[in-house]
Amino acid sequence: MPDMTFRCMLVQENEDKSFTRSIVTRSVDELPEGELLIKVHYSSLNYKDALSATGNKGVTRNFPHTPGIDAAGEVAWCGDGTFVEGEMVLVTGYDLGMNTSGGFGQYIRVPSSWAVRLPAGLTPREAMVIGTAGFTAALCVQGLEHGGVVPGDGEVVVTGATGGVGSVAVSILGQAGYIVTAVTGKPDAEEYLLSLGASRVVNRGGVLEGADRPMMKEIWAGAVDVVGGQTLAAVIKSTRYGGVVTCCGLVGSPDLPLNVFPFILRGVSLVGIDSVQVAMEPREKVWERLSGEWKPDHLESSVTEVSLEELDGKIDEILAGKIKGRVVVNLH
Ligand SMILES: NC(=O)c1ccc[n+]([C@@H]2O[C@H](COP(=O)([O-])OP(=O)(O)OC[C@H]3O[C@@H](n4cnc5c(N)ncnc54)[C@H](OP(=O)(O)O)[C@@H]3O)[C@@H](O)[C@H]2O)c1
Repeated sequence: MPDMTFRCMLVQENEDKSFTRSIVTRSVDELPEGELLIKVHYSSLNYKDALSATGNKGVTRNFPHTPGIDAAGEVAWCGDGTFVEGEMVLVTGYDLGMNTSGGFGQYIRVPSSWAVRLPAGLTPREAMVIGTAGFTAALCVQGLEHGGVVPGDGEVVVTGATGGVGSVAVSILGQAGYIVTAVTGKPDAEEYLLSLGASRVVNRGGVLEGADRPMMKEIWAGAVDVVGGQTLAAVIKSTRYGGVVTCCGLVGSPDLPLNVFPFILRGVSLVGIDSVQVAMEPREKVWERLSGEWKPDHLESSVTEVSLEELDGKIDEILAGKIKGRVVVNLH
């Protein structure tokens, strides 16, 4: 096991229960147990990282802590022979960045069962442009496929469309030939969303018109929702007969103020999406697709690359719903 130091973001809890973020130097000896030591080349910023970085105990119980639920880089040491030194791998989800020191540091140590071999079609940076947000978007698209929603069925709506999950979902769906309606709260985002692959762009308020009624006009063949609350309820109420709605987020609200009519009168399916505990075989298959047919080619225009030192401000921006596209963290 190499003995070395590395730079990372450290979130500390103060006596007055406030939290402070700083960039510090630590030793790999301080990392948690695990068979796999990874030299992280890139990480990415997800909404959950911002919750961890601001002391949300639902995400991270114990501080000091290094957030970062995503990491891609090279194997520095592997104690159980699963990987060889120098191999390129990626880790998303499981406990990384939650209660296990995460990708906002130049090294992570994790169980080898958490790592995916980097598919041939992806660089570590590209893998982190996708990251948990993109992997989740891909799981949502897969959920639509499994529910029988195919290109040509009609409009598929994506809420929170300029965010991480939303941007990648618009991009994958557009490339796969779906007609995509992007819902956004950002008045200046239309051109961006059309360039990603949306066919039309609707203001956030637009999907809520008539939402006080038990059912709404049938519009969507499928949906990818990251918002929850009234937005998810309205999307379900306006999904067409036999349509599929995937639910993965709660940026608006964790509540779901809804009746059963869309399910029992229109046969609408609500599919829950979790990216954290997906088993390794389906996980690898989704990453394979993300390196090929689903590689979000149009996303590079909206990538913001930051260093560890520049990450701090982006954490506040993502909490305020102000990020457009994906933020990758360069750990070199
Ligand atoms: N289930 C899973 O495994 C999983 C995995 C990844 C993420 N998630 C969840 O998915 C959600 C999105 O994650 P993300 O990384 O894409 O976050 P993000 O980059 O912050 O994107 C969220 C987007 O939602 C919109 N939005 C923000 N606040 C809103 C509000 N109050 N009402 C309506 N829309 C709002 C904004 O887009 P517009 O300005 O374009 O509307 C924002 O950019 C989060 O809740 C996250 O925890 C879940």
